[in-house]
Amino acid sequence: MKPVTGLISLVMLLMLTTATYAEEKPNSLIGSHLYRSYCLVCHGKEGNGNGPLAKKKDLRPADLSSGKYQKEKIGTLAETIGRYRKDADSNMPNWGLVLPEDDIKHIAAYITTMSNKGLKFRGNTRRGRIIYKNACIACHDKNGKGNGLLAQLIRIEMVDFSHPESMQKLSDDQLLKTIREGKGDFMPPWAGALNDDEIIDVASYVRLLGR
Ligand code: HEC
Ligand code: HEC
Repeated sequence: MKPVTGLISLVMLLMLTTATYAEEKPNSLIGSHLYRSYCLVCHGKEGNGNGPLAKKKDLRPADLSSGKYQKEKIGTLAETIGRYRKDADSNMPNWGLVLPEDDIKHIAAYITTMSNKGLKFRGNTRRGRIIYKNACIACHDKNGKGNGLLAQLIRIEMVDFSHPESMQKLSDDQLLKTIREGKGDFMPPWAGALNDDEIIDVASYVRLLGR
């Protein structure tokens, strides 16, 4: 009896996930959660191909952080993932048969943000998200658009974290410097209130909002 109940809850969970995420724009944050569930076991936390199952079974998953996949369009990458046909000696599952298209696009969006050689920092975005929620949304708002409660009061322009082109212009060094030291009259300095790791965590989360 037990295994059947387990299976039913799994199916319900999958249906729930699908329903909640249906018809959304590719979102790398959702993708990062899905990646952790479905891909990390082989491709690894950093995407470089040394996940626990890959090590155990001596598989050779592609290095998703190599820079190659970061150059691709999200749609193209999603097609690669979804229509992947394994040849005889491949161990890459055929995700198009299992995951909804939207989920594959979320994952593809996440992969395009993965550390390639140019990226200087890589923090814990889960911790970063909590810091962001506590310390940043008052001005930058939940999705980084810059129209939080306080921002509306002080009526000051700030870069839209959810706008990829604007965020690309902001270098990693500049991003970290502003968070550490503050900027202008209203962006507070966080050094002292947040330690170095926490600053990197929240900066990584800010980067994630741009995809
Ligand atoms: C059971 C292990 C395993 C899991 C789980 C897995 N992969 Fe893979 N993946 C591989 C292997 C092995 C390869 C190398 C290709 C081959 O052997 O054919 C690969 C290759 C790839 C490639 C390269 C395809 C190409 O042609 O360049 C992409 C992209 C990829 N995987 C994405 C994903 C995504 C996204 C997930 C999660 C939804 C995932 N993989 C889950 C094992 C896995
Ligand atoms: C009291 C309001 C306020 C809070 C709280 C706040 N910011 Fe800002 N932030 C601003 C303003 C205003 C700007 C625009 C500054 C400018 O360009 O002069 C800004 C700009 C930025 C920039 C753009 C950097 C640049 O060089 O253009 C980043 C990144 C940033 N903030 C991150 C954060 C993070 C991370 C937090 C939370 C730890 C945070 N901010 C909390 C008001 C705030």
